[in-house]
Amino acid sequence: MKITPLHPLFAAEATGIDISVDLTPDQIAEIREAMDTYAVLAFREQTIDDARQRRFSEYFGPLETSRKLHRKGYVPRLDTKMSDISNLDETGRPLAKDDFRLLNMYANRLWHTDSSFKRIPARYSVLAAHVLPRGGGGNTEFADMRAAYDDLDGATKARIENYVCIHSIMNSRERLGYTDFDEGERTGLSPVRQVLVRTHPGSQRKSLYLASHAGSIEGLPVPEGRMTLIDLTEHATQPKYVYSHAWRPGDVVMWDNRCTMHRGRWHDPGDIRDMRRTTVSDEIPTVSEDAPRRAG
Ligand SMILES: [Fe+2]
Repeated sequence: MKITPLHPLFAAEATGIDISVDLTPDQIAEIREAMDTYAVLAFREQTIDDARQRRFSEYFGPLETSRKLHRKGYVPRLDTKMSDISNLDETGRPLAKDDFRLLNMYANRLWHTDSSFKRIPARYSVLAAHVLPRGGGGNTEFADMRAAYDDLDGATKARIENYVCIHSIMNSRERLGYTDFDEGERTGLSPVRQVLVRTHPGSQRKSLYLASHAGSIEGLPVPEGRMTLIDLTEHATQPKYVYSHAWRPGDVVMWDNRCTMHRGRWHDPGDIRDMRRTTVSDEIPTVSEDAPRRAG
């Protein structure tokens, strides 16, 4: 496997490896190590189907089951261990402009980390490009949360060190005016607590853990907490911390949600974009239930 950096701070391209076949323990270790260093790895020229993508992802931990949308007559296009990041219905046609699946997915264009609204959030995400929009666009941007943390001044680091944020998928959707969740969807999606500053286990570097799913900080008035999150997100997504991935056919991109944020960018919604994600779950919550942390 050959690693070529794609950005001065993080993100790299991985060539000379076929991730659709069985990998050796050495290859798995090599990928893990590259992930700990670069946090975003773009595997080029892959030919991968859903089953092989799941198999590759499972080398790195258990897979998440995708969030269920409780709608009458809703037929998911993909297996429950796959997240459908396309703009397609179950027959492969582009979704109508007002389809709830499309409206729900607009929040993917806000800066976020995957599954921070779950008590045990995501470790890695793996996204495979099947069909790219003919008219271009649809880049995925990544922001380096370890570098952004390193550059904070000492007073800010001390102030935020023990903050615990409340994350809910409703926050990111409501920000865009999408509140059409039925009772079934609301149940089982209760808000969860996540630390704001975490130590990335593979590199032992501290990282900001931010996402548009975060709506408040425990112990702070809501506007103060929300403003703190907005300020930190603005800081952490300055161009110097961002790598923009222009997708090529055959790309499979893997990222570490514990130390990066990402967002999708615009493409013509009438243009087919078929992307499929597997999500590797982490093992433990970020907040210890026995020792709750408080602001101040
Ligand atoms: Fe995402």
